[in-house]
Amino acid sequence: MKIGIGNDHSALELKAEIIELLKEKGHEVVDYGTNSPESCDYPVYGEKVGRAVASGEVERGILICGTGLGVSIAANKVKGAYAALLSDIYSAKRARLSNDANIACMGAFTIGNKLREELTDAFLTNEFVPGCSSQPKVDAFREYEAAHQK
Ligand code: RB5
Repeated sequence: MKIGIGNDHSALELKAEIIELLKEKGHEVVDYGTNSPESCDYPVYGEKVGRAVASGEVERGILICGTGLGVSIAANKVKGAYAALLSDIYSAKRARLSNDANIACMGAFTIGNKLREELTDAFLTNEFVPGCSSQPKVDAFREYEAAHQK
C-alpha cells in the first residue's frame, strides 16, 4: 500500500520507527515532513497529508504529533480526509470498519512503542465493507461535506 506520513517536531523519532515498520511490511512510504527538529506548526503537515490522501496521491495517511490531536483536527479540515485519533486496538479497527477513516493519527508523547505498532497494523489490515450497516452513517457525513465544504 502507498502510505503518506507527516508529523511535527515532536514526532521525528517516532516517524523514523513507523517508516521502518511500514517498509518491513512491504508498504511504500511518502514522507511529507517535517524532518527538522525546529518547532513547527502541526496544521501544515496535517493539511499536506490530508490533501495527499483526499487526492488519491496516497491510499492512506499516518499523522503524528505530541498527542495526535492537532494533526487530526488539521487533517479533518480537508474535504475527503477522514482522520481518526487512535489510542486502543478496538477503535483502530473500528476506525476502518465503522468509519472508513483514511488517516490514522497517533501521539508521540502518549502511546508506547508496541501499541503504536499494533494500532498501525490494525488500521492498515482492516477494510471498510461497502454496503455494511455503517454505510448510511459514512454516507451522511460525506453528504454533509459535499453540501457544505468546498
Ligand atoms: C507540541 O507542539 C504539541 O503541542 C503538538 O505536537 C501536538 O501535541 C498538538 O496537538
